[in-house]
Amino acid sequence: MKIGVLGTGMVGNALATKLVQLGHDVMMGSRTASSEAGQQWQRSAGGTARLGTFAEAAAFGEIILDCTNGANSLTALRAAGSANLRGKILIQAGNPLDTSKGMPPTLTVCNTDSLGEQTQREFPDTRVVKALNTVNCEIMIAPARVPGDHQLFICGNDPKAKAEVTQHLGKWFGWKAANIIDLGDISNARGTEMFLALWVRLWGNLGTPHFNIQVIRGS
Ligand SMILES: NC(=O)c1ccc[n+]([C@@H]2O[C@H](COP(=O)([O-])OP(=O)(O)OC[C@H]3O[C@@H](n4cnc5c(N)ncnc54)[C@H](OP(=O)(O)O)[C@@H]3O)[C@@H](O)[C@H]2O)c1
Repeated sequence: MKIGVLGTGMVGNALATKLVQLGHDVMMGSRTASSEAGQQWQRSAGGTARLGTFAEAAAFGEIILDCTNGANSLTALRAAGSANLRGKILIQAGNPLDTSKGMPPTLTVCNTDSLGEQTQREFPDTRVVKALNTVNCEIMIAPARVPGDHQLFICGNDPKAKAEVTQHLGKWFGWKAANIIDLGDISNARGTEMFLALWVRLWGNLGTPHFNIQVIRGS
């Protein structure tokens, strides 16, 4: 598959590297096509790894992974261009964290809105699926690093897009469909993004980002 990965940070690196290893045709997008972080990724990923601007990667991909900095994702996606994103599934892994006042971070949008909703509103012709944002990037691509069953949450307004994303998450990264909870429409991104307030505190408490939550249903 031709996949556009927007973002040169650790999430973009982890997902894009795994997808290249699986034999997909991947272009990583950045603000500038000559991004130093992007070039480092391209050298280390090898294979057919490509590098471009956000717009070039969005135009290239049949499906788009949005791994941009959540506080700046709308700026990055505007640079990617609505025409290049039209009709495509956009899997958004980012969280709108504001770290300007130190740790723990707050959220730039919350309670009555979310980055997922802002993105879907601004790009109405794009099929936004919020996913992967509640786990560390090494868990995103290798859920078995955390033993046993543990869950991932997805949400979005397009049921077919969510079904397709569920399949991809299984084939690409090894997430069992039974462990993916579809929360419903994109407004549920409020819940998964606000989970970050707990996630960062668990990280501090456990001393590792390699954990996830297990949801157990009562009778
Ligand atoms: N780290 C994890 O394991 C993890 C897990 C779950 C969710 N997340 C979330 O995933 C997102 C990505 O995290 P990350 O640590 O991989 O990368 P990051 O450092 O948060 O973001 C890097 C990307 O954002 C772009 N960017 C930064 N400021 C920008 C601006 N003002 N305008 C346009 N683009 C801008 C950068 O562009 P350039 O390439 O041009 O520099 C780069 O591609 C974050 O929202 C994070 O909270 C992270």
